[in-house]
Amino acid sequence: MTAMPTLVADTGPGSQPVTLGPVLSIFDPVHIGIDEFGQPVRVPLIYRNMLIGGEPGAGKSALLNAVVAHAALSLDCRLVLLDGKLVELGQWRACAEPGGFVGPDLDAANKLLKRLQIMMDRRYAYLVDCERRKVAAGDAFMPYVVAIDEIAYFSATVGKKQDREEFAALLRDLVARGRAVGIIVIAATQRPSSDIIPTSLRDLFAWRFAGRCTSHSSSDIVLGHGWAQQGWTANSISPTNPGVGLLIAEGGTPQLVKTAYLDDATCAAIARYAATLRTTVNRQAATDTGQQPGAADAA
Ligand SMILES: Nc1ncnc2c1ncn2[C@@H]1O[C@H](COP(=O)(O)OP(=O)(O)OP(=O)(O)O)[C@@H](O)[C@H]1O
Ligand SMILES: [Mg+2]
Repeated sequence: MTAMPTLVADTGPGSQPVTLGPVLSIFDPVHIGIDEFGQPVRVPLIYRNMLIGGEPGAGKSALLNAVVAHAALSLDCRLVLLDGKLVELGQWRACAEPGGFVGPDLDAANKLLKRLQIMMDRRYAYLVDCERRKVAAGDAFMPYVVAIDEIAYFSATVGKKQDREEFAALLRDLVARGRAVGIIVIAATQRPSSDIIPTSLRDLFAWRFAGRCTSHSSSDIVLGHGWAQQGWTANSISPTNPGVGLLIAEGGTPQLVKTAYLDDATCAAIARYAATLRTTVNRQAATDTGQQPGAADAA
């Protein structure tokens, strides 16, 4: 948890202002579940990306929601959500940037990723001017968490081929170059196949989580080639145990994890609280500086 100025929400006429509770930081590791020994598994996400793969019902969206919950409560990051199903991340839409929630709309998804790409280029131009190589906590430029559920919907299912290819190219660029400027991509896919996740893209994700997969080769597509042969395969996970998967970090070995699960009511409650925190802090910042949030990126 991070020390923040006390936030006081004005709850409207006739009500007393409410002092809001503590917040999280995107620079802190994110709790994603427990390991085989019941110990917490926390993953640092800043300067990293995460790929989540697995068959339908494996628990991908549940993990995505756990990460988005941490991000939503982290007032030192902004949130962008792309959700082909609309309802998987829909509860967090009030926490997203203005225009930062896209449902099943490829055109809007491409426009949003394009905006992020322009912002990324500007941030690099700024960093090089300051003779720096990456953003840090406390910078005017806040990290962005970009959560995508599901990649294949946008890159291989809907719309025109040219637009799908544009989506894939924009996503690859953000994953490849976004890390140092604080763009954290967390992307889920139901179809861990080489056309959706070519090896060159997979290897750009520092964290990879394979929920139950239909074959050893799908598991390897998420975790990396050769792990199934060494006995690490998400194909052996029981279909009746959603949320269990193999997590691997760049250069590490897979570890078995049971992800944290937030049911609908809990997600909704956290999302409401996070939205209140975000509105309050944005309002206070606008009053203090006369600037809208995100002004540093627009400059
Ligand atoms: N960590 C968990 N603990 C307990 N139950 C879980 C967990 N994760 C998922 N589940 C259960 O599994 C169901 C399916 O999970 P989820 O929707 O995340 O799957 P998915 O992989 O996103 O599926 P799809 O590919 O169809 O979108 C959830 O509704 C929930 O009941
Ligand atoms: Mg899902």
